[in-house]
Amino acid sequence: MPKEKILIVDDEPNIRLTLVEALQGWGYDPIEAGTIAAGRELFDAEQPLAVLQDINLPDGSGIDALREYKNRQPQAVVIMITGNVQLEDTIAALRGGAYDFISKPVRLNELQVTIRNGLEASKLRREVVTLRRERAQEFNFSQIIGQSTAMSEMLRLAKKVAASEASSVLLQGASGTGKDLVAKAIHYGSSRTDHPFIAINCAAIPGTLLESELFGHERGAFTDAKARKEGLFEQAQGGTLFLDEIGELELGLQAKLLRVLEEGKFRRVGGLKDLPLNVRVIAASNRDLKSESEAGRFRLDLYYRLSVIQIDLPPLSQRGDDVLLLANYYIAHFNERLRKRIRGLQPEVTEIFRRYQWPGNVRELRNVIERVMILEDSDSITSSWLPRDLVKDEQAKTKEDFVYPTTAAVPVALAVQVQHGFVLPEGGIELEEVELSFVRQAMERSGGNQTRAAELLGISRDQLRYRLKKIEDLHSTD
Ligand SMILES: Nc1ncnc2c1ncn2[C@@H]1O[C@H](COP(=O)(O)OP(=O)(O)O)[C@@H](O)[C@H]1O
Ligand SMILES: [Mg+2]
Repeated sequence: MPKEKILIVDDEPNIRLTLVEALQGWGYDPIEAGTIAAGRELFDAEQPLAVLQDINLPDGSGIDALREYKNRQPQAVVIMITGNVQLEDTIAALRGGAYDFISKPVRLNELQVTIRNGLEASKLRREVVTLRRERAQEFNFSQIIGQSTAMSEMLRLAKKVAASEASSVLLQGASGTGKDLVAKAIHYGSSRTDHPFIAINCAAIPGTLLESELFGHERGAFTDAKARKEGLFEQAQGGTLFLDEIGELELGLQAKLLRVLEEGKFRRVGGLKDLPLNVRVIAASNRDLKSESEAGRFRLDLYYRLSVIQIDLPPLSQRGDDVLLLANYYIAHFNERLRKRIRGLQPEVTEIFRRYQWPGNVRELRNVIERVMILEDSDSITSSWLPRDLVKDEQAKTKEDFVYPTTAAVPVALAVQVQHGFVLPEGGIELEEVELSFVRQAMERSGGNQTRAAELLGISRDQLRYRLKKIEDLHSTD
């Protein structure tokens, strides 16, 4: 195992020598600097686990150095070492995150114990942080259901973005495609996970209020501003601010947001000072911001800034059989919530689900499952309680794809193909429809004689009746 690196920053060579020898004796790997500047450089280059930091140095204060170390590496163990301890220094050092305070002349035994404890505590903290991060990542992205190509690609990008330093992200997708979900997964899957995730819907708050909501205000900034107020940007410090429906943001506020993103600082309403900002902004829109900006409704420069990292959420209709995965996921979910024991979808429902366009995307699917599970009495989901839209959509499709009976070009063409051994047409077919079409044709040719029709189709009369019932069902809901 490599020795643990410890940085010594002190301007007195004698002290450095003593400390270096002691640290080596205890099995550490000491590195040393005689100035704040040199110490900072070594800290960055060598990433020591601990620092023994003198307070008074010719080129600055050890307290400032401490703050810098903790900023860059919060888990670093910084032990302050000083000649004459001032109360203010002690307070400042402890506030700045110093692990401990040791006065000169240094008692080596004491120092050894302090270093050992400090490193131990820091190691535990690092482990906790790593575990928490792993868990957050696992937990959140794994809640997002989807194995289709479109979803896998989207998720791959989102995970990459989460782990990155990107300061802004744009999520685009229709309502119900999972923008909220993905925004949260990005936050909890990032190093910001221990800091706040704050969401605001830009459409829900009028522009005048929104500005002070976002940026806060100073006392007296306007008539009602009786006290200073922290804005959401400030509250989200270190974490993520989710600006939902960013397309609804007023043009003036768009300009302010752009400035914040570009300069990494912001100003409270009525404030004179710029405040530094460390917040990742995730903006979401269900409109295409590019065309919005082309139409003059959205600032083009803000669009360009946001779209540096853009994640498009595919509509549910482009996710293939994810719709079935999601359906089963929600069946399990509502089984628990509603104390039901639904086992799955009937094949007819599977087909309807696959073919329906889902304009409300996952949200609509979730609502449909909830509705049907409340109403359904059997142990699987049948089409009996499906909302009209789904069933109507199904019929519309069936009718337009397939014109019955004999005038239809498709069945005739297929019938010819049958003689040649069932050639699958270029564009594919809907097997179920082909089947029903042949049932109809057989019934016509046999003049309604079911036995004869069944013979023509090579199936039993019961099998024929089952299929006739299907045709009937399709039309009875008209
Ligand atoms: N891929 C998915 N897996 C599981 N649940 C999802 C998925 N996408 C969306 N949802 C759920 O669908 C609903 C709508 O998602 P939401 O993130 O609010 O969509 P949007 O913000 O795009 O309108 C929520 O209940 C959400 O949990
Ligand atoms: Mg949303």
